[in-house]
Amino acid sequence: MHTIVAMQSGPHCRQNSKMSAVIVVHGGAWAIPDDLAKASVDGVKAAAAEGFAVLRNGGAAMDAVESAVRALEDNDVFNAGHGATLNAEGEVEMDAIIMDGRTLACGAVLSVKNIANPVSLARAVMEKTDHVALTDTGANMFAQSIGMATVPTDELVTSYQRKEWEKHKKYLTGVKEDFNTQWAHDTVGAVAVDCSGNVACATSTGGIRNKMVGRVGDSPVIGCGGYADNLSGAVSCTGHGESILKVTLARLILSHVEQGKSVEEASNMALQYMGERVRGAGGVVVVSPKGQWASAFTTQRMAWAAVANEVLYYGLEPGEKRKEHLS
Ligand code: GLY
Repeated sequence: MHTIVAMQSGPHCRQNSKMSAVIVVHGGAWAIPDDLAKASVDGVKAAAAEGFAVLRNGGAAMDAVESAVRALEDNDVFNAGHGATLNAEGEVEMDAIIMDGRTLACGAVLSVKNIANPVSLARAVMEKTDHVALTDTGANMFAQSIGMATVPTDELVTSYQRKEWEKHKKYLTGVKEDFNTQWAHDTVGAVAVDCSGNVACATSTGGIRNKMVGRVGDSPVIGCGGYADNLSGAVSCTGHGESILKVTLARLILSHVEQGKSVEEASNMALQYMGERVRGAGGVVVVSPKGQWASAFTTQRMAWAAVANEVLYYGLEPGEKRKEHLS
Protein backbone atom coordinates (compact mmCIF):
# COMPACT_ATOMS: atom_id res chain seq x y z
CA MET A 1 0.00 0.00 0.00
CA HIS A 2 1.39 3.37 -0.96
CA THR A 3 0.71 6.87 0.13
CA ILE A 4 -1.91 8.00 2.52
CA VAL A 5 -2.34 11.51 3.81
CA ALA A 6 -5.08 12.58 6.09
CA MET A 7 -5.73 15.42 8.44
CA GLN A 8 -8.41 17.55 9.98
CA SER A 9 -8.82 20.97 8.49
CA GLY A 10 -9.18 24.08 10.62
CA PRO A 11 -11.61 26.94 10.26
CA HIS A 12 -11.23 29.28 7.32
CA CYS A 13 -14.76 29.80 6.05
CA ARG A 14 -16.66 32.97 6.71
CA GLN A 15 -16.86 34.05 10.33
CA ASN A 16 -20.40 32.86 10.93
CA SER A 17 -19.62 29.39 9.58
CA LYS A 18 -18.64 26.58 11.92
CA MET A 19 -17.52 24.43 9.00
CA SER A 20 -14.21 24.34 7.19
CA ALA A 21 -13.90 23.88 3.45
CA VAL A 22 -11.53 21.38 1.80
CA ILE A 23 -10.92 20.21 -1.76
CA VAL A 24 -8.84 17.22 -2.90
CA VAL A 25 -8.16 16.42 -6.56
CA HIS A 26 -6.33 13.70 -8.48
CA GLY A 27 -4.97 13.48 -12.01
CA GLY A 28 -5.02 9.69 -12.30
CA ALA A 29 -3.27 6.73 -10.66
CA TRP A 30 -0.80 5.00 -12.99
CA ALA A 31 2.91 4.70 -13.74
CA ILE A 32 3.22 8.34 -14.76
CA PRO A 33 6.42 8.66 -16.84
CA ASP A 34 9.05 11.19 -15.78
CA ASP A 35 8.38 13.40 -18.78
CA LEU A 36 4.78 13.95 -17.60
CA ALA A 37 5.53 14.16 -13.87
CA LYS A 38 6.02 17.91 -13.42
CA ALA A 39 3.15 18.88 -15.70
CA SER A 40 0.87 16.43 -13.85
CA VAL A 41 1.75 17.88 -10.44
CA ASP A 42 1.45 21.46 -11.70
CA GLY A 43 -1.94 20.59 -13.20
CA VAL A 44 -3.44 19.13 -10.03
CA LYS A 45 -2.10 22.02 -7.94
CA ALA A 46 -3.73 24.54 -10.29
CA ALA A 47 -7.03 22.62 -10.34
CA ALA A 48 -7.14 22.35 -6.54
CA ALA A 49 -6.50 26.08 -6.21
CA GLU A 50 -9.24 26.82 -8.74
CA GLY A 51 -11.75 24.64 -6.92
CA PHE A 52 -10.77 26.07 -3.56
CA ALA A 53 -11.34 29.62 -4.83
CA VAL A 54 -15.01 28.68 -5.17
CA LEU A 55 -15.15 27.35 -1.60
CA ARG A 56 -13.23 30.27 -0.12
CA ASN A 57 -15.93 32.62 -1.35
CA GLY A 58 -18.61 30.56 0.32
CA GLY A 59 -19.40 28.62 -2.86
CA ALA A 60 -20.93 25.14 -2.98
CA ALA A 61 -18.99 21.87 -3.04
CA MET A 62 -20.76 20.96 -6.30
CA ASP A 63 -19.47 24.12 -7.98
CA ALA A 64 -15.97 23.55 -6.59
CA VAL A 65 -15.64 19.96 -7.88
CA GLU A 66 -17.06 20.90 -11.28
CA SER A 67 -14.65 23.82 -11.55
CA ALA A 68 -11.64 21.70 -10.55
CA VAL A 69 -12.52 18.88 -12.93
CA ARG A 70 -13.13 21.30 -15.80
CA ALA A 71 -9.61 22.67 -15.23
CA LEU A 72 -8.24 19.11 -15.42
CA GLU A 73 -10.31 18.33 -18.54
CA ASP A 74 -8.96 21.48 -20.21
CA ASN A 75 -5.37 20.48 -19.42
CA ASP A 76 -4.17 18.11 -22.12
CA VAL A 77 -1.69 16.41 -19.77
CA PHE A 78 -4.60 14.45 -18.33
CA ASN A 79 -6.76 11.69 -19.75
CA ALA A 80 -10.09 13.57 -19.75
CA GLY A 81 -11.59 16.14 -22.10
CA HIS A 82 -8.63 17.54 -24.10
CA GLY A 83 -6.00 14.82 -24.01
CA ALA A 84 -8.44 11.92 -23.66
CA THR A 85 -6.97 8.56 -24.58
CA LEU A 86 -8.08 6.72 -27.74
CA ASN A 87 -10.02 3.49 -28.11
CA ALA A 88 -9.17 0.53 -30.37
CA GLU A 89 -10.48 2.42 -33.42
CA GLY A 90 -8.46 5.52 -32.53
CA GLU A 91 -11.53 7.46 -31.36
CA VAL A 92 -12.33 9.39 -28.20
CA GLU A 93 -15.06 8.02 -25.91
CA MET A 94 -15.33 9.79 -22.55
CA ASP A 95 -17.21 9.11 -19.31
CA ALA A 96 -18.00 11.41 -16.37
CA ILE A 97 -20.01 11.58 -13.16
CA ILE A 98 -20.94 14.25 -10.62
CA MET A 99 -22.83 13.72 -7.36
CA ASP A 100 -24.34 15.99 -4.72
CA GLY A 101 -24.05 14.69 -1.14
CA ARG A 102 -27.00 16.78 0.08
CA THR A 103 -29.64 14.88 -1.88
CA LEU A 104 -27.77 11.99 -3.54
CA ALA A 105 -28.65 13.63 -6.85
CA CYS A 106 -26.30 12.35 -9.52
CA GLY A 107 -25.63 12.80 -13.23
CA ALA A 108 -23.44 10.80 -15.59
CA VAL A 109 -22.50 10.59 -19.25
CA LEU A 110 -21.03 7.53 -20.96
CA SER A 111 -19.09 7.26 -24.24
CA VAL A 112 -19.51 10.89 -25.27
CA LYS A 113 -17.39 12.06 -28.19
CA ASN A 114 -17.31 15.74 -28.96
CA ILE A 115 -17.84 17.44 -25.64
CA ALA A 116 -14.96 19.45 -24.19
CA ASN A 117 -16.16 19.21 -20.59
CA PRO A 118 -18.08 15.96 -19.97
CA VAL A 119 -18.36 16.80 -16.25
CA SER A 120 -20.59 19.78 -17.06
CA LEU A 121 -22.77 17.66 -19.34
CA ALA A 122 -23.08 15.13 -16.48
CA ARG A 123 -24.21 17.96 -14.21
CA ALA A 124 -26.77 19.05 -16.78
CA VAL A 125 -28.13 15.49 -16.94
CA MET A 126 -28.54 15.66 -13.16
CA GLU A 127 -30.16 19.09 -13.10
CA LYS A 128 -32.18 19.20 -16.32
CA THR A 129 -33.45 15.65 -16.87
CA ASP A 130 -35.37 13.02 -14.91
CA HIS A 131 -32.52 10.58 -15.47
CA VAL A 132 -29.18 9.77 -13.91
CA ALA A 133 -27.18 8.76 -16.99
CA LEU A 134 -27.16 9.30 -20.75
CA THR A 135 -24.95 7.54 -23.30
CA ASP A 136 -23.33 8.28 -26.63
CA THR A 137 -25.79 9.69 -29.22
CA GLY A 138 -28.47 10.48 -26.64
CA ALA A 139 -26.00 12.40 -24.52
CA ASN A 140 -24.90 14.40 -27.56
CA MET A 141 -28.51 15.10 -28.60
CA PHE A 142 -29.19 16.32 -25.07
CA ALA A 143 -26.08 18.54 -25.16
CA GLN A 144 -27.33 20.13 -28.37
CA SER A 145 -30.83 20.59 -26.93
CA ILE A 146 -29.50 22.65 -24.02
CA GLY A 147 -27.14 24.66 -26.22
CA MET A 148 -23.95 23.11 -24.86
CA ALA A 149 -21.13 23.75 -27.30
CA THR A 150 -19.71 20.74 -29.06
CA VAL A 151 -16.19 20.53 -30.46
CA PRO A 152 -14.88 18.45 -33.36
CA THR A 153 -13.59 15.29 -31.71
CA ASP A 154 -10.19 15.79 -33.34
CA GLU A 155 -9.77 18.94 -31.26
CA LEU A 156 -9.73 16.75 -28.16
CA VAL A 157 -6.99 14.48 -29.51
CA THR A 158 -3.44 15.47 -28.67
CA SER A 159 -0.42 14.44 -30.72
CA TYR A 160 0.87 12.61 -27.61
CA GLN A 161 -2.26 10.44 -27.47
CA ARG A 162 -2.24 9.81 -31.23
CA LYS A 163 1.42 8.72 -31.07
CA GLU A 164 0.80 6.48 -28.06
CA TRP A 165 -2.15 4.89 -29.84
CA GLU A 166 -0.06 4.28 -32.98
CA LYS A 167 2.69 2.77 -30.84
CA HIS A 168 0.44 0.38 -28.94
CA LYS A 169 -2.44 -0.35 -31.26
CA LYS A 170 -1.29 -3.84 -32.06
CA TYR A 171 -1.49 -4.84 -28.41
CA LEU A 172 -4.67 -5.49 -26.48
CA THR A 173 -3.81 -3.55 -23.36
CA GLY A 174 -7.14 -2.11 -22.35
CA VAL A 175 -8.12 -4.87 -19.99
CA LYS A 176 -4.77 -5.59 -18.42
CA GLU A 177 -5.18 -6.84 -14.89
CA ASP A 178 -2.13 -4.94 -13.72
CA PHE A 179 -2.78 -1.24 -13.94
CA ASN A 180 0.68 -0.47 -12.68
CA THR A 181 1.98 0.22 -16.13
CA GLN A 182 2.71 3.03 -18.50
CA TRP A 183 0.22 1.55 -20.94
CA ALA A 184 -2.54 2.97 -18.84
CA HIS A 185 -3.30 6.67 -18.55
CA ASP A 186 -6.05 7.39 -16.20
CA THR A 187 -8.86 9.70 -15.13
CA VAL A 188 -9.22 12.94 -13.16
CA GLY A 189 -11.44 13.70 -10.18
CA ALA A 190 -12.24 15.94 -7.24
CA VAL A 191 -14.02 15.79 -3.89
CA ALA A 192 -14.95 18.75 -1.72
CA VAL A 193 -16.71 19.80 1.44
CA ASP A 194 -18.01 23.36 1.60
CA CYS A 195 -18.55 25.76 4.49
CA SER A 196 -22.03 24.33 5.08
CA GLY A 197 -20.72 20.78 5.42
CA ASN A 198 -22.07 19.65 2.06
CA VAL A 199 -19.91 17.18 0.13
CA ALA A 200 -19.67 16.47 -3.61
CA CYS A 201 -17.59 14.40 -6.01
CA ALA A 202 -16.80 14.53 -9.73
CA THR A 203 -14.82 12.14 -11.94
CA SER A 204 -14.02 12.34 -15.67
CA THR A 205 -12.02 10.10 -18.01
CA GLY A 206 -11.17 9.03 -21.52
CA GLY A 207 -10.97 5.48 -20.15
CA ILE A 208 -8.23 3.02 -20.98
CA ARG A 209 -6.10 3.26 -24.12
CA ASN A 210 -7.09 0.76 -26.83
CA LYS A 211 -10.31 -0.17 -25.02
CA MET A 212 -12.98 -1.85 -27.11
CA VAL A 213 -15.41 0.53 -28.79
CA GLY A 214 -18.31 1.01 -26.38
CA ARG A 215 -16.36 -0.11 -23.30
CA VAL A 216 -17.37 1.79 -20.17
CA GLY A 217 -15.26 1.71 -17.01
CA ASP A 218 -15.95 2.67 -13.42
CA SER A 219 -15.87 6.44 -13.74
CA PRO A 220 -19.52 7.16 -14.68
CA VAL A 221 -20.97 4.37 -12.54
CA ILE A 222 -22.48 5.54 -9.28
CA GLY A 223 -20.73 4.00 -6.26
CA CYS A 224 -17.76 2.90 -8.38
CA GLY A 225 -16.00 5.93 -9.93
CA GLY A 226 -17.51 8.26 -7.35
CA TYR A 227 -20.04 8.69 -4.57
CA ALA A 228 -21.08 11.56 -2.32
CA ASP A 229 -23.30 11.48 0.75
CA ASN A 230 -23.46 14.15 3.44
CA LEU A 231 -23.91 11.36 5.99
CA SER A 232 -20.46 9.86 5.33
CA GLY A 233 -18.32 11.67 2.74
CA ALA A 234 -17.31 11.93 -0.89
CA VAL A 235 -14.94 9.77 -2.97
CA SER A 236 -13.48 9.99 -6.48
CA CYS A 237 -11.67 6.93 -7.83
CA THR A 238 -9.03 6.27 -10.48
CA GLY A 239 -7.37 3.09 -11.71
CA HIS A 240 -8.31 -0.12 -13.46
CA GLY A 241 -12.01 0.35 -14.19
CA GLU A 242 -12.91 -3.32 -14.44
CA SER A 243 -11.45 -3.92 -10.96
CA ILE A 244 -13.07 -0.82 -9.42
CA LEU A 245 -16.46 -1.90 -10.81
CA LYS A 246 -16.13 -5.36 -9.26
CA VAL A 247 -15.60 -4.02 -5.74
CA THR A 248 -17.74 -0.81 -6.04
CA LEU A 249 -14.73 1.04 -4.68
CA ALA A 250 -16.23 4.44 -3.83
CA ARG A 251 -19.16 2.96 -1.95
CA LEU A 252 -16.92 0.39 -0.25
CA ILE A 253 -14.79 3.18 1.21
CA LEU A 254 -17.84 5.00 2.55
CA SER A 255 -19.19 1.74 4.03
CA HIS A 256 -16.00 1.50 6.07
CA VAL A 257 -16.41 5.14 7.13
CA GLU A 258 -19.99 4.40 8.20
CA GLN A 259 -18.60 1.62 10.37
CA GLY A 260 -16.36 4.07 12.22
CA LYS A 261 -13.13 4.00 10.20
CA SER A 262 -11.30 7.23 9.41
CA VAL A 263 -11.19 8.23 5.74
CA GLU A 264 -7.53 7.19 5.73
CA GLU A 265 -8.21 3.73 7.19
CA ALA A 266 -11.22 3.24 4.94
CA SER A 267 -9.23 4.13 1.81
CA ASN A 268 -6.40 1.76 2.74
CA MET A 269 -8.74 -1.10 3.55
CA ALA A 270 -10.71 -0.77 0.33
CA LEU A 271 -7.66 -0.46 -1.94
CA GLN A 272 -6.02 -3.41 -0.21
CA TYR A 273 -9.20 -5.44 -0.67
CA MET A 274 -9.30 -4.56 -4.39
CA GLY A 275 -5.68 -5.64 -4.76
CA GLU A 276 -6.20 -8.94 -2.97
CA ARG A 277 -9.64 -9.85 -4.28
CA VAL A 278 -9.38 -8.91 -7.97
CA ARG A 279 -5.69 -7.94 -8.35
CA GLY A 280 -6.68 -4.38 -9.19
CA ALA A 281 -4.63 -1.23 -8.61
CA GLY A 282 -5.88 2.31 -8.37
CA GLY A 283 -6.19 5.45 -6.30
CA VAL A 284 -8.75 7.53 -4.43
CA VAL A 285 -9.33 10.95 -2.94
CA VAL A 286 -11.79 11.20 -0.05
CA VAL A 287 -13.27 13.95 2.12
CA SER A 288 -15.61 13.75 5.10
CA PRO A 289 -18.36 16.25 5.96
CA LYS A 290 -16.17 17.42 8.88
CA GLY A 291 -13.18 18.16 6.65
CA GLN A 292 -11.09 15.07 7.24
CA TRP A 293 -9.41 14.13 3.97
CA ALA A 294 -7.22 11.46 2.42
CA SER A 295 -5.38 10.60 -0.76
CA ALA A 296 -4.23 7.02 -1.37
CA PHE A 297 -3.03 4.87 -4.26
CA THR A 298 -1.60 1.43 -5.03
CA THR A 299 -0.11 2.28 -8.45
CA GLN A 300 3.45 3.55 -8.93
CA ARG A 301 2.38 7.19 -8.90
CA MET A 302 -0.67 9.41 -8.59
CA ALA A 303 -0.67 13.19 -8.96
CA TRP A 304 -2.90 14.67 -6.26
CA ALA A 305 -3.39 18.01 -4.52
CA ALA A 306 -5.52 19.28 -1.64
CA VAL A 307 -6.29 22.66 -0.12
CA ALA A 308 -7.20 22.90 3.55
CA ASN A 309 -6.62 25.85 5.88
CA GLU A 310 -5.22 27.94 3.01
CA VAL A 311 -2.40 25.40 2.69
CA LEU A 312 -1.83 23.55 -0.58
CA TYR A 313 -0.70 19.94 -0.15
CA TYR A 314 0.43 17.83 -3.08
CA GLY A 315 2.34 14.72 -4.09
CA LEU A 316 3.16 12.22 -6.80
CA GLU A 317 5.34 9.46 -5.34
CA PRO A 318 4.35 6.95 -2.65
CA GLY A 319 4.53 8.65 0.74
CA GLU A 320 5.22 12.08 -0.72
CA LYS A 321 3.39 15.01 0.87
CA ARG A 322 4.66 18.50 0.10
CA LYS A 323 3.02 21.68 1.18
CA GLU A 324 3.10 25.37 0.40
CA HIS A 325 1.02 28.35 1.34
CA LEU A 326 -1.72 29.03 -1.17
CA SER A 327 -0.83 32.15 -3.14
N1 GLY B 1 -10.73 4.36 -14.30
C1 GLY B 1 -11.13 4.71 -15.60
C2 GLY B 1 -11.44 3.60 -16.47
O1 GLY B 1 -11.06 2.46 -16.20
O2 GLY B 1 -12.11 3.81 -17.45
